[in-house]
Amino acid sequence: MIVRKILTLLALTTLAIANQTIAQSYDSNPSAQKMHYYDIADFEMQASDINYADHIAPILQRSCLQCHRPGGGGPMSFLSYDEVRPWAPVIMYRTAIRDRMGAMPPWYIEKDIGISDGFESDYSLSDLDLAMIQAWAQNGAPRGNPANEPPPYVVTEGEDWTLGEPDLVLTGPEMTRPEVAPDWWGDIGIVPTGLTEDRYVQSIEVKEVNDIPDDIGSNTVGGRYIWHHMTYSSGVLSEDGSFILPETRVGWPIHEVGRNADKFPDSAGRLLQANSALHLNAAHMHSNGRETTGHLEFGIKFFPKGYKPKYTERGPRTGNGVDLDVLPGLPNQELRNSVVLQEHTKIMAFEPHLHAPGVRMCLEAIFGHNKFTINCVGYDHNWVKQYIYKEDSAPLLPKGTILQTIAYMDTSSKNPNLADSRNWSGGGRRSVSNMFIDLGYSVTMTEEQFQEEMAARREILGNKNNYDVGCPLCWAPVPEYDEAGGGSD
Ligand code: HEC
Repeated sequence: MIVRKILTLLALTTLAIANQTIAQSYDSNPSAQKMHYYDIADFEMQASDINYADHIAPILQRSCLQCHRPGGGGPMSFLSYDEVRPWAPVIMYRTAIRDRMGAMPPWYIEKDIGISDGFESDYSLSDLDLAMIQAWAQNGAPRGNPANEPPPYVVTEGEDWTLGEPDLVLTGPEMTRPEVAPDWWGDIGIVPTGLTEDRYVQSIEVKEVNDIPDDIGSNTVGGRYIWHHMTYSSGVLSEDGSFILPETRVGWPIHEVGRNADKFPDSAGRLLQANSALHLNAAHMHSNGRETTGHLEFGIKFFPKGYKPKYTERGPRTGNGVDLDVLPGLPNQELRNSVVLQEHTKIMAFEPHLHAPGVRMCLEAIFGHNKFTINCVGYDHNWVKQYIYKEDSAPLLPKGTILQTIAYMDTSSKNPNLADSRNWSGGGRRSVSNMFIDLGYSVTMTEEQFQEEMAARREILGNKNNYDVGCPLCWAPVPEYDEAGGGSD
């Protein structure tokens, strides 16, 4: 056992140097980064049982090939055993980072605290997946019987959307960035939806389509793209179709490079009106080292006609991009932000947003003598991830809860995302300035809706021994109501 551990450590040191990923394995926060190694024997299997065909290929298909294929965002393709085999040791290393900068797949939920599963479109790896990858890589990465390999992963035109083919695809204007140029911000206009009736959106996925050939890899997420991000909203068009009527505006999640698709919960679809348009009001364009022309495609799926959302009122947002004070050359800086919830609130999504110094963010709730961590996630400014709670695991917080976000910043020279670790930085929009925001969203609930949600949660939990971290009142006695609908003491 000890010998195995030492061998693993040796393998790691060598790998880290060979692949220059050592800077990503630093101790980035108070809880200290640890590599996630498992012993396959703990899963009642042996290393010699594990092979590519039966065990590894299915993991790669589920969690890696959407990017690691020609034309995907990843630097190399993992479609066949021959392509994967040379990468086995690096795959073992990157996947074992699990929840910190440098981890693959890019999904940074810390699984040992707070809500560890219960997220939509979760492609992270389980403890067993990691154990199998590690056992396989250390055992010479055998192929197994090729006949057992899953059918090849095929991507055909129109199916290149992670949430399936959209009902409506809207196309933004074509933009060109020169090989090298400063970043550019601006309004790139209006895209009419052509809708003749109001519809509620179930999911929206934004894709950059550009003229970078599929067969060139890129070593950074930014290398294949020119849209750093796109802030946009929608609303009903004015009579002459030249602008959006301000009182009809609906906000949408910002598209950012490296971002996953946005799926709205069944209870909170978002409105796209008849005669509406998207307003692409703030594009941030970035030159990627080769002259590139491209546009954004917005793939939209609707709820069925006649659908009405249960929740329409949005809860507050924590954090800001203004009054921040980030000291130079200092790891493990902790910043806190809090808001007192004025209404019962259901947290639908957590989206940590920091800039280059950011390495981790936690979401905490304080209610009475109860203080609990909802989630902690690692952060890498190259990957903007939104973590969407499934309806039945979304935190249900009573009014009066203090909702806190805690950001961890590392401005030491070990943070590879920093331009210069010697600079003090405050808040601001550029990546050399800082932000500290939870860009996720929540909805507010009436007392009746709150009780209804908690009753449904109790059904799932089964009995009081099953405690739900996101629901401090789930097992509290249900208040009695008088006939007028008010609560009694
Ligand atoms: C959402 C897209 C995406 C997914 C999903 C993804 N990768 Fe990656 N991967 C990338 C990108 C982009 C890079 C290069 C940037 C970086 O290293 O962070 C990369 C880099 C890597 C590297 C390092 C290559 C090197 O040169 O050292 C390995 C190994 C890797 N990925 C393995 C995996 C494995 C294994 C999975 C699935 C378990 C996976 N990736 C899932 C996009 C992705």
